[in-house]
Amino acid sequence: MQKNEIKKKYFDKIKELNKHNLLYYQKSKPIISDKDYDKLKKEIFELEKKYTFLISDISPSNTVGFKPSKNFLKAVHRERMLSLSNAFDKNDLGNFEKKVLNYLNIKDKKILEYSVEPKIDGISASLTYKNNNFVLGLSRGDGTEGEVITENLKTIKDIPKYIENTKFPKDIDIRGEVYIEKDDFKNIKDRFANPRNAASGSLRQKDSSETKKIPLRFIAYSFGFNNEINFKKQSEFLQLLKNWGFKTNKFNKVISGVDNLVQIHKELEKKRYDLDFDVDGLVYKINSIELQNRLGFVANAPRWAIAHKFSADSSFSKILNIEIQIGRTGALTPVAKVKPVNIGGVLVSNATLHNEEEIIRKDIRVGDTVKIERAGDVIPHVLLVDINKRSKESKKFLFPQKCPSCGSKVIKDFNKVSKKYDAVKRCSSEGYKCEKIAIEKIKHFVSKEAFNIEGLGKKVVEKFWNLKLIKLPYDIFNLNYKKIEKLDGWGTQSSNNLKKSIEKSRNIELDKFIFSLGIRHIGQENARLLSKFFLNIKSFEDLTKNFNFNSLANLDGIGETQINSLKNFFSDQINLNVVKKLVSILSIKDVVLNTKGKLVNKTFMFTGKLSNISRAEAKSLTEQNSGKILSNVSKKLDYLVIGEKPTAKKVKQANELSIKVISQLEWKKLLN
Ligand code: IVH
Repeated sequence: MQKNEIKKKYFDKIKELNKHNLLYYQKSKPIISDKDYDKLKKEIFELEKKYTFLISDISPSNTVGFKPSKNFLKAVHRERMLSLSNAFDKNDLGNFEKKVLNYLNIKDKKILEYSVEPKIDGISASLTYKNNNFVLGLSRGDGTEGEVITENLKTIKDIPKYIENTKFPKDIDIRGEVYIEKDDFKNIKDRFANPRNAASGSLRQKDSSETKKIPLRFIAYSFGFNNEINFKKQSEFLQLLKNWGFKTNKFNKVISGVDNLVQIHKELEKKRYDLDFDVDGLVYKINSIELQNRLGFVANAPRWAIAHKFSADSSFSKILNIEIQIGRTGALTPVAKVKPVNIGGVLVSNATLHNEEEIIRKDIRVGDTVKIERAGDVIPHVLLVDINKRSKESKKFLFPQKCPSCGSKVIKDFNKVSKKYDAVKRCSSEGYKCEKIAIEKIKHFVSKEAFNIEGLGKKVVEKFWNLKLIKLPYDIFNLNYKKIEKLDGWGTQSSNNLKKSIEKSRNIELDKFIFSLGIRHIGQENARLLSKFFLNIKSFEDLTKNFNFNSLANLDGIGETQINSLKNFFSDQINLNVVKKLVSILSIKDVVLNTKGKLVNKTFMFTGKLSNISRAEAKSLTEQNSGKILSNVSKKLDYLVIGEKPTAKKVKQANELSIKVISQLEWKKLLN
């Protein structure tokens, strides 16, 4: 067969498969048997195996599993579902423990006890029980809002539908991991890339009888909403879960000391391939619930827990090409396109090369055979080059001097702190003028943490961009649905669904709106800080008119880098138009501040060393009681709280401005 004919045969089969995916998973109206479906998929995989030139982005081995339904109702989590930050080695763990000790102002490490739990590689779910009945089951979603998947969760044997135990709290969210055991996965491995995909795909089926066909399991490990906390430790809670009838992990342990954590990690890592389920590391949680509460969380992760990942899987493959990807902030990232290779159950065809310096340091070239590493959900990267396999004709890779998308000059930022130039090269036309940056900006705009527009994923954004349906973010709110309906793979229903989710997203919180603009150095946490400062879209927009950034200098957490970035952003005419237009067509909610605390409308600043409490915890307590933290002494400041050895200049300034200078004890009294 000619190459062309093979390609045609292959793409025809993929098209056929996609048709059945749609009929089965979105419309729930299959027209072929499961057996024929699996046969078709197998034929595609076999063609790929035989003719390696066939592998493409649309291969079902990339878009594995079946497409989950988009039609789930959503519900807000009563307590946010957080994720975890990662540690990879002893050093990371040491830093984690140090931060915890500093925050809590504890000197003796031995006091810290950890609940150590295997990190099952599945999908988390939150189960609400009222009066002992399982009444609502949610997926994690964006952490704030999840999908209602109660019926699907009810098909899982490990999830009790009713709790007999009379001491079980009357209203509680139980959280844990839905997963599939390795043995069970063997029977369905032709349909999914890995057990995690299988769990995720079957959990999000429209028809719960489909979910029931897959033997899913559930292990419980934490709680969300719970106002009957009558336990003092995470380990006690795990025991309660067991008493109430939930399955918990038999490898859970309580351990102190980083050295011991490293030891247990080593032991489980050795055992990991013999376990019945996929585990990608261990989770360490500060065992004391009181300390957990004091530590709280940053952005999306708790300060009191960390995931210690297992070392990466690796494999060799050949670099077919080196492409330059352009990110939302203009960063040029070289990516090695490699001959697809299975690494730890996932088919890898891309590996990041990070930046130009990395390519030079490792002398990575097109055609090289390289070792690629992949750890959990982290992007695979090239570890080293096998020089012995290098051909004589191979040439050094030349990093582009101009943006491959728009031709602008590439630049490196100077870092004032390290006094060095960044390793990353950037397109100098940061903004919508560079096509690739613009596309990435739009992907960010619609992403989960921003406008969260379901049905407008990365691939769809690219497609709509190429069809000139979207050029700037506001185009999303003025789409030509008649045209979309007629596109390949679309129809009236999917087009209507998209319209619905876009219309719904018009109503947005101020912090999400600020974050969605993709301003450099303004991530979720800074967007939240800014939204609490501006309180409504009008005052944020005023910034674009009066260009008065001075007031921001006072805001704790917002520094020179962020202010310069905001100035930069608002100096661009296109950005100004985008914001103006969006404001006119959206409904951006005002921020409702917690005004119940004792320190409402009062501003604070701390100087000097506090006793028995860290600066971070003092600030956090102030905010929890509705107080505001400022980072400079100015007329806006109400209290300067002084600890040991305060900065003399600050005290002097405060006195000059007649600001109340108070001791830590007086601050504590205000808090009561
Ligand atoms: S605790 C704040 N405990 O890991 C608490 N998570 O990266 C966050 N996971 O979304 C979760 N085993 O899907 C926790 N014993 C365990 C876990 C666990 C697996 C998953 C979970 C979560 C992800 C965080």
